[in-house]
Amino acid sequence: MTPRAVESASTPLRQILHVSDVHFGKPHLKEVSEGVLALIAQHPPDLVVISGDLTQRAKPGQFKEARAFVDRIDVPSLSVPGNHDVPMYRVWERVGAPFWAYRRYFAKDMEPTFQDSQMAVIGINTAFNWTIRDGRVTRSGQRSLERRLAAVPADLTKIVVAHHQLIPAPRFDSQKVLKNASEVVKVLNRGGAEMVLSGHLHQSWIGSTEAYYPSGSRPVLLVHSGTTTSSRGRGCERRRNTCNWIRLRDSEIEISNLAWDASDQRFFEQSRHLYPRRDQETYTLKAS
Ligand SMILES: [Fe+2]
Ligand SMILES: [Fe+2]
Repeated sequence: MTPRAVESASTPLRQILHVSDVHFGKPHLKEVSEGVLALIAQHPPDLVVISGDLTQRAKPGQFKEARAFVDRIDVPSLSVPGNHDVPMYRVWERVGAPFWAYRRYFAKDMEPTFQDSQMAVIGINTAFNWTIRDGRVTRSGQRSLERRLAAVPADLTKIVVAHHQLIPAPRFDSQKVLKNASEVVKVLNRGGAEMVLSGHLHQSWIGSTEAYYPSGSRPVLLVHSGTTTSSRGRGCERRRNTCNWIRLRDSEIEISNLAWDASDQRFFEQSRHLYPRRDQETYTLKAS
């Protein structure tokens, strides 16, 4: 990516690099994770978000590799677990202590929060041990999210990070969405969340809550990253690697979808998307 692709006319309030499904283990692509670190070094964002599936098989060695990768990021970062961070085949571990390796070798806190003078980024854990693929937010998880959103000062941008998707994505109609998704959307709306950053599908796309759960509320943006550093791309991103560069501005959120160029060994901007801020009066088009 050229510097021009990241910097634009006015200085953003905050910039976030959103990567996902890094899948340390067999499918991990070392040269691409080096490319992510090079991008961060060249254009340091205010925060790097990793929206789950740190590993392929939740093995201690894979979590250690994921930790070493995150430790090389010289700006703040926030990570949440995905379904691949729960053991699939080690059944007793999966039943009795599904997150022991994550907590011991990667991070104790599976629902971290990042907050500064502009934004609060709230991580939630949607992975659990009863299923190898799907996600959920329990009733107590919803109450916890509601409390955490309510505790954020009203003038900060509220962003939630969750591994699983809240609405069906193109080409993934048959795949279940996050269990209790419609209840979670109500919590997001009540709490004033502006955006959710997710992964899991290994295909990047952007949707909104109003497209699937229309309530007349301001839409919450649902931003997905593909698999940023693994060979597991799906849908229209088979064998491809993507991530999102997000700029928060006073009047808009600007999202650049970045894709890995293997011949150039760097990320390039393949599309750019603009959305009005939640508090902007752009909801109704006015005659000019
Ligand atoms: Fe994944
Ligand atoms: Fe996943």
